[in-house]
Formats: sequence, structure tokens, C-alpha cells
Amino acid sequence: MLAIHHDEERMTWRESPAPAGPAPGEVRLKIAWAGVNRADLMQRAGHYPPPPGASAVLGLEVSGTLIEIGEGVDGLEAGQRVCALLAGGGYAEEVVVDARQVLPLPDGLDLRQAAALPEAFATAWLNLFMEGALASGERVLLHAGASGVGTAAIQLCRSFDHPCFVTLGSDAKLATCQELGAEAGWNRHRGSFVDAVKDWGGADLILDPVGASYLADNQQVLNTDGRLVVIGFMGGRQAELDFGRLLMKRQRVIGSTLRSRPPAEKGKILAALQAHVWPRLASGEIAPLIDRSWPIAEAEAAHAHVQADANVGKVLLEVGGEA
Ligand SMILES: NC(=O)c1ccc[n+]([C@@H]2O[C@H](COP(=O)([O-])OP(=O)(O)OC[C@H]3O[C@@H](n4cnc5c(N)ncnc54)[C@H](OP(=O)(O)O)[C@@H]3O)[C@@H](O)[C@H]2O)c1
Repeated sequence: MLAIHHDEERMTWRESPAPAGPAPGEVRLKIAWAGVNRADLMQRAGHYPPPPGASAVLGLEVSGTLIEIGEGVDGLEAGQRVCALLAGGGYAEEVVVDARQVLPLPDGLDLRQAAALPEAFATAWLNLFMEGALASGERVLLHAGASGVGTAAIQLCRSFDHPCFVTLGSDAKLATCQELGAEAGWNRHRGSFVDAVKDWGGADLILDPVGASYLADNQQVLNTDGRLVVIGFMGGRQAELDFGRLLMKRQRVIGSTLRSRPPAEKGKILAALQAHVWPRLASGEIAPLIDRSWPIAEAEAAHAHVQADANVGKVLLEVGGEA
């Protein structure tokens, strides 16, 4: 099969050994589309190695058609169109994955749209509702609101009645996020978000992929009993925590990654998505926001676009050409 080989300099689409398997409990997919994630850029730069046992090929999410079903897999069949959350291996023609990491397409969505779902929606659902335990009506601050994860999280907040405030890097991105359901927002290039978020009412939960450079400001806008769920450190990995505020306001700081979780845990997150979000995707109440796609052989251009913070929503790679 063909797959992307990468180093820091370049990515090339060339012949590679197909993955072994499927072992019992696994399935093999012929990939149609692959999602691009910020993590792929970090992995390529040498800052985010794949977890033990995972493919060294980039790619954390795909859509495609099942072509082989391992022993003991129930409820999936060859020929079925699915999407999958991977620990790696998505920038390729085929992947083998634990069946618990696979979901059928939501009714009415095509393969291109489905490739935009697994990583962004699983991350948003996991951290808003499972780790962050959002309670009825609680208010949410989403940093990187126009990212793949952010545009999924805005729609989950809107759909499940949680007012949300976004920070992002341009007024045009803010307008799009408000159309998606954000109540208000702040362009991070205008300085600190603290006054704007306080004026809005503060946050009971912050979904934060920025880390160090936002820690002090996050603590200032986090309400009593608030949760700061840190999912990335684009703004650095070390900062000072104000323990006085942490204790007096009973703030909680939670760190979370999706990729390193075992298949059983990923399966629970996907099952929750299928139960709670798939019907809303089918009805059109929620829709993946796709920014642009490139043929997989041009993955370099797709990465440059993401690296430049130019995307609003998801960037995709076309592998098998099917819609
Ligand atoms: N822990 C997990 O399990 C998990 C899972 C998935 C994603 N993530 C993290 O979630 C974030 C979003 O992922 P994605 O793939 O959806 O991202 P994406 O679409 O590539 O968007 C990332 C956006 O972050 C903003 N940004 C970049 N550098 C920044 C900085 N130093 N300070 C503040 N904002 C900055 C930029 O938007 P603006 O210019 O508009 O601000 C950029 O477009 C990433 O950090 C990723 O690593 C974590």
C-alpha cells in the first residue's frame, strides 16, 4: 500500500508495508479520507512520539470502508462505511484498528464529512462532559475556538445549552464562531482576555490547549468550583500556579490526552458520541466544519496551512477519492 513517510523536512507518499492483522477484535479499513490534527505537526517535528505499539505513520482519524473483520468483532461487517479514531497510521491507504475505535457514519453524512468527526468531537466530548463534568447551564471558555476541536466544542455547547465564549486569532474567525453558536469572543492579538471574559460572566469550565501563557489569566476568569481542563501547551509547558486562588475558589486543574488512552476507554468515548451526538449530526443540528482538503500526496501544503493558523475548522486529506 501507499503511505506518507515523514521527517521534519518533508512528507512523501510512497510504497510501504501494509499493517499486519486484523488480530482478534480488530478490523481493516480501506481509507477514503484522513483528518489533519495539530498533533500530526508536533509528531512530525519530533515533539509527540506515537504511544508504544502505535504505527509510526501520521494520522489520528480516518473514514473509509471496512475490508476485513477480525475474529470476535460484533456489529461491524465488510463493506460498511465507517470512521475511526486512531493512535496513528491514518495517512495511508489502509489501517488496522481495534473495533472499539470504529463508528458507523451518522445518517446522512458522507465519508468526507465523517473524517472530520472522530478526533475533534471525541476530544471535545471527553473534556467538556466526561473530564469537565459540565452541569446544567454551566458557562464555558474555549481557547483556540476556531480550531478543529474548538469548532466541535462550540457546537456541543450550543446544542447542550452551555453558553460559550471563544478566544482566537482574528475577527473573521470570531464571526464564524459566533455563527456556529459562540455567544461572544476575544481576538487574542488584542491582549489579555481577562476583562472580556469577566464582563461576560466568567467561566465554570475552560477547555485550554494553550497551557503556560494562559494559566494566570485562566485562573482569574475561572469561577468558584470551576474546572480548567488542559489539553495542550501551545503557549508553553511551565508556569506558576496561584495556589491561594486555587484553594479559595476551589478551582480544579485537569490534564487530559486522548491518544494515549487504551482502546477500551476510547471505545467508551465513541459510544457516548454515538448515543448523544450522532443523532444531532444526523438531524443537521450539529455539522463538522470543514475548512479545506488536499490530495494526500500534497499533505505538505495541508500542514503548512495548519501551521500558519489559517484553518477555521478541520483540514482533510483525500486518500481514496470516495465521497
Ligand atoms: N489532549 C488531547 O487529547 C488533544 C486532542 C486533540 C487536540 N488537542 C489540542 O487541541 C488544540 C487544537 O487542536 P486542533 O488539531 O483542533 O488544532 P488546529 O485546528 O490546528 O488549531 C489550532 C489553533 O490554535 C491557535 N493557536 C496556535 N498557537 C497558539 C498559541 N501559542 N496561543 C494561543 N492559541 C494558539 C491558532 O488559532 P488562532 O490563531 O485563531 O488562535 C490555531 O489555528 C491543539 O493544541 C491540540 O494539540 C489535544
